[in-house]
Amino acid sequence: MLGFFAAGITVDLLDLLNARRSTPSRLLGEPGPAPAELQRLLQSAVRVPDHGRLDPFRLIALEGAARVRFGETLARIHARMDPATPDAALDKDRKRYLDAPLILVVVARIDEHHAKVPAQEQLLSAGCVGYNLLLGAQALGYGAQMLTGWAAYDREVADLLGLTENERVLAFVHIGTARERAPERNRPAVANLLSHWS
Ligand SMILES: Cc1cc2nc3c(=O)[nH]c(=O)nc-3n(C[C@H](O)[C@H](O)[C@H](O)COP(=O)(O)O)c2cc1C
Repeated sequence: MLGFFAAGITVDLLDLLNARRSTPSRLLGEPGPAPAELQRLLQSAVRVPDHGRLDPFRLIALEGAARVRFGETLARIHARMDPATPDAALDKDRKRYLDAPLILVVVARIDEHHAKVPAQEQLLSAGCVGYNLLLGAQALGYGAQMLTGWAAYDREVADLLGLTENERVLAFVHIGTARERAPERNRPAVANLLSHWS
């Protein structure tokens, strides 16, 4: 019985994976996940492989007016950092967080000097949370896209988000309702990716 049940789950999961694609953030709009859906999404997303059970991640939600303030602050930081930044780039900073109703900032919390678990493995766990968010959002009927941009790598932005020294932004996961079906792209041919070592 368990085997049959497990096989059923496997088939559903592969269907979901085969349908997975990102929805560009500019195609996302209201509504976003309701509070109860968001809780389900988060609970599922944090079920990642995690060497040493370190929970090397956390999430920050940007919603509503916070998205406006965040974008405006990014534009100010950008202009101060490089006064020659074109207006179009500053405008992009301001508008980037306004389409999707929910942006989850995936933060990696890395212990660089952990005795057993290398930083790479901690990063990988945190990355899995980001990917689970994409898959989970799609399973709930929403579109999602993982984005970085300069803001993900800037220390001043990290401070703005309240990150500590050992924390870094891995990605901004934009989640909302797809206004139109996202375009598909060519996927890698597994034949080119798999070799057999003997
Ligand atoms: C860590 C990470 C950061 C990304 N950042 C960006 C980005 O800043 N801008 C962008 O256009 N795509 C970015 N992408 C790619 C998109 O998330 C997405 O994968 C791409 O649009 C292709 O869609 P697909 O997921 O359906 O293959 C990033 C992907 C990853 C894994």
